[in-house]
Amino acid sequence: MKRQRIVAGNWKMNNNFDEGRDLTISIIQKLGPSGTLAVLCPPFIHLNYMSTLAKGIANLKLGAQNCHTEANGAYTGEISAPMLKSVGAEFVILGHSERREYFGETDDFLAKKVGAVLASELRPIFCVGEKLESREAGEQESVVSSQLEGGLFHLSAEQMSKVVIAYEPVWAIGTGKTASKEQAQEMHKFIRSLVAKKYNDNLADLTTILYGGSCKPDNAKELFSQPDVDGGLIGGASLKAADFVAIVNSFPDSK
Ligand code: PGA
Repeated sequence: MKRQRIVAGNWKMNNNFDEGRDLTISIIQKLGPSGTLAVLCPPFIHLNYMSTLAKGIANLKLGAQNCHTEANGAYTGEISAPMLKSVGAEFVILGHSERREYFGETDDFLAKKVGAVLASELRPIFCVGEKLESREAGEQESVVSSQLEGGLFHLSAEQMSKVVIAYEPVWAIGTGKTASKEQAQEMHKFIRSLVAKKYNDNLADLTTILYGGSCKPDNAKELFSQPDVDGGLIGGASLKAADFVAIVNSFPDSK
């Protein structure tokens, strides 16, 4: 069994209802059948309608950008995993650096969210990545390894098999600076080795690891050609249908 290739679009806090509908329709028109799964992660308000548009398209799924730890209750303003499931989401991005930085999300809190997502039979896209000062100090491996330990490695192997990991160096997000293909490959290989050590080689081999951080049509090909890069988590470039679909189609034929 080969591991699943995924290109996920993280729209962040962009697109009103009409813009989101138009972008989705345009992506659907451009997206041919492919062995790569495209996952659109819009703001919550779009999910219900977008899932009607995406119905029946085998290589297009929907994801959310966040959810709460609890299934329901007095948590004003929050959205739960079962709610997301009820409107057709299949994935949930967790631990994005913007959530960690602006909303104070800690590894412990994220570990609970991971549990909530899995309990609803949704799949977490769990983000890890170092800030610039950690990269400059050569501490990228220890940062990423402690994020994985704190947020994911309490899971059973069965649960872990549902998780997608996204390596997103914070210094590359929205900055136009991309990790080189060598830097990406080195970190992806390292992450896979940690999964192998914690679980087993087979599970590590099957774990989809995405790269995120200024991934664009003109650099996706070389990033996706790396043996341990299984796709991307795309911010800015996911807001243009042609760019997003070009990235989805950026895997070399040999992969
Ligand atoms: P970017 O964002 O592609 O705009 O750098 C990536 C992300 O934050 O997931």
